[in-house]
Amino acid sequence: MAILGKKGKKDSNYLSAKESRRISRENRKITDAIEKQRNRKHIPREEYVTKMRDPNNIVEFDNLHTYFFTDIGTVKSVDGVSFDIPKGKTVGVVGESGCGKSVTSLSLMQLVQRPQGQVVEGEIRLNMGEEAYNIPKVPIREMQKIRGNKVSMIFQEPMTSLNPVFRIGAQVDEIIALHNKEMSKEEVKARTIEMLEMVGIANSEGVYNMYPHELSGGMRQRIMIAMGLACSPQLIIADEPTTALDVTIQAQILDLLRNLKDQINSSIMLITHDLGVIAEMADYVVVMYAGRVIEKGTVHEIFKDPRHPYTIGLMNSKPVVGRKVDRLYSIPGNVPNPVDMPDYCYFRDRCDQCTAKCDGAYPAEIRISPTHSVSCYLYEGEV
Ligand SMILES: Nc1ncnc2c1ncn2[C@@H]1O[C@H](COP(=O)(O)OP(=O)(O)OP(=O)(O)O)[C@@H](O)[C@H]1O
Ligand SMILES: [Mg+2]
Repeated sequence: MAILGKKGKKDSNYLSAKESRRISRENRKITDAIEKQRNRKHIPREEYVTKMRDPNNIVEFDNLHTYFFTDIGTVKSVDGVSFDIPKGKTVGVVGESGCGKSVTSLSLMQLVQRPQGQVVEGEIRLNMGEEAYNIPKVPIREMQKIRGNKVSMIFQEPMTSLNPVFRIGAQVDEIIALHNKEMSKEEVKARTIEMLEMVGIANSEGVYNMYPHELSGGMRQRIMIAMGLACSPQLIIADEPTTALDVTIQAQILDLLRNLKDQINSSIMLITHDLGVIAEMADYVVVMYAGRVIEKGTVHEIFKDPRHPYTIGLMNSKPVVGRKVDRLYSIPGNVPNPVDMPDYCYFRDRCDQCTAKCDGAYPAEIRISPTHSVSCYLYEGEV
């Protein structure tokens, strides 16, 4: 029986079993075709070798679309995201839960859950020196050389990312040995000890022989960072690296990341909900909302001169020591259903500044300065 809505009409969110089967069949057709392309034995280099738009960038996201083909419809998790990560800089990515921050970074590592999750359009260009690779098209074998070596990722949960049945030393050794086949066992161990010391673990020989459960959360996150940095990557992706930690350890870990970044001269893509962390760490900020970038600029531009009503709302919802308020500001309403996105501005229904224009198509990107841009009708005509 169909579920009836308030006015007796069929509820638009309800899917019959027949409809769901039809969607699954169609999804399979689409994902099978993409997977077949990917799984070819020999992929010619021309298909994934490209050029950077600006050789001073380490990564360029260019109109990236990453979709999940689920049984209830297509979830457009990342829907046309473009931004650059310059060499040696930190780019902070902020936005509400579910806006596509993690999926953007997973796309760069080719770690999106396949076959449902697929990059369907756009490029992610990774600077390889002379040439660049378009990551979504890179063959799996080639990708394994990039992960951990050129680009590495530090996840939110250090306990689940470490294997509980192996000693710390063995786990760090494994990564170093994998990417440095010429090293002897003793050299690998020496490098592991050196890495543990670099991330501020005093008793490095002792910790080398410990199991993950013997360490505190902060220590485990240090181990994860040591593993991430073992091969001096040019880009470190840190997805909420300090959310599971308390504030003092958080500050230590951030200091550590910043120092290490300078030591090995890499770039950081820092994903976080915490605007304080962004203000302290980032050079550039990218604000995402419902799978799109709505505003981006230098950290100074975003904090001192936020333009998009969502960014302004985010800044207002940040508690400030010394400012007395009755209630902390919160942005009213919810993010639209990702399966069924409207064709007007995704923020319109929550926006207190919307005008008649906002009923039109999704707003184009408007440049406010060479580094600052915003997608909002309020600034149309302003350059
Ligand atoms: N494997 C998956 N299958 C289906 N949908 C998914 C899958 N992974 C992520 N999504 C959807 O993609 C969207 C973006 O998710 P993502 O994890 O990137 O959010 P996020 O910005 O990192 O959020 P958070 O701040 O909570 O980590 C969400 O709507 C999520 O439900
Ligand atoms: Mg996430």
